[in-house]
Amino acid sequence: MPDHPRNIRVHLDGPVERSHDIVFGTLDELSERMSEAGLASDRCVVVTDANVGHLYGERLETGLRNAGWECLLVTLPPGERTKSLDRLSEILDAALEFGVERRSPVVALGGGVIGDVAGFAAATILRGVPLVQVPTSLLAQVDSAIGGKTGVNHPVGKNLIGAFYQPSLVLMDVATLSTLSESEWLGGLSEVVKYALIRDEQLLETLLHSWDAILAREPKVTADIVARCASIKVEIVEEDEHESGIRAILNFGHTFGHALERIAGYIGITHGTAVAVGMRAAIDLSQRRESGTDFTRALDLTDRLPKPRLGPEITVDRLVDAMWSDKKRIGDILRFVLLEREGSAVVVDNVSEDEIRKSWEYAIGPLKSGHRSTDL
Ligand SMILES: NC(=O)c1ccc[n+]([C@@H]2O[C@H](COP(=O)([O-])OP(=O)(O)OC[C@H]3O[C@@H](n4cnc5c(N)ncnc54)[C@H](O)[C@@H]3O)[C@@H](O)[C@H]2O)c1
Ligand SMILES: [Zn+2]
Repeated sequence: MPDHPRNIRVHLDGPVERSHDIVFGTLDELSERMSEAGLASDRCVVVTDANVGHLYGERLETGLRNAGWECLLVTLPPGERTKSLDRLSEILDAALEFGVERRSPVVALGGGVIGDVAGFAAATILRGVPLVQVPTSLLAQVDSAIGGKTGVNHPVGKNLIGAFYQPSLVLMDVATLSTLSESEWLGGLSEVVKYALIRDEQLLETLLHSWDAILAREPKVTADIVARCASIKVEIVEEDEHESGIRAILNFGHTFGHALERIAGYIGITHGTAVAVGMRAAIDLSQRRESGTDFTRALDLTDRLPKPRLGPEITVDRLVDAMWSDKKRIGDILRFVLLEREGSAVVVDNVSEDEIRKSWEYAIGPLKSGHRSTDL
């Protein structure tokens, strides 16, 4: 028996059934874990994408069927475009035609895209059926499968339609991470580094010391790191489920990173590399505000993440504009998550444009080339 990390209980306010477990185990344990979580029906809908379905769909389905579940497998195309109202409709149509009832769970097997769209489907089918998250990407295991944010994109912007909807169970099989592409693995590592910087100095040390083992995806180190990051996310969500305060620190590096993704048109540059650049800008800004505080390890760690090569179209002017327009559109002010020291973050809203410009210059200067933007 592989020794899995200990399960994590997510305690939430309100009716007791909103609290749930994050279980570390194998895909084959799903039916057992579902009955432990009190999920009992004879039907379930498994939503996945073609990549993950090909690798793990049959195994999951067979396990469920052997335990007496009648399963409908809905396989969607991989990629961010699947987080759309059209694909949501496809899930709803299939589920209703299949004859789901109030107690029939929706199982989301895949990365953050599947977790978000299938989660939103679960929130809306019959005004809410149980949701089981089975995250298979590093990003999904450390971030998106935890916390209950579900939804789809709209042509006007990302994640503009959705609901807070908590799962009844999260099953993490860290062994599934071995089949993830190198770029998805490294992308997820940006979020891992983020957790260390905002909340856990000891994790920061572990990452620095075990970096080679992490790149090699050594199972024990991987499992420990996923479990640590998942616990941090749980702590933050328990404190502030609906993001009225502390949960905003999870956006560390993202206010900068999203602007970069937008200007690059979401092509050529991945979310992970944009966040890596964004975190370096945010650390630089923190350094300027907290003079005398040492941020050497934070800069060292973020420097190890892959970063994009930026073409001439990426300018500080355009980046600053993108930051403002994004916020104005949703009627929000520009907030920044900064580090007060390594391992501890604060949210501030009094950052001047001059400071923002200097930090952008620091972060993107070394990445500029004469060519089109692309991941290195
Ligand atoms: N709900 C939240 O709180 C939250 C938080 C952060 C991000 N997100 C969302 O998550 C999405 C990104 O998630 P993602 O990075 O997992 O993307 P993704 O779901 O597109 O998965 C990335 C790629 O990896 C493949 N894949 C997944 N698991 C695999 C495995 N085990 N083996 C081989 N291939 C595998 C997928 O098919 C896909 O091609 C974005 O839409 C983002 O908005 C949501
Ligand atoms: Zn992110």
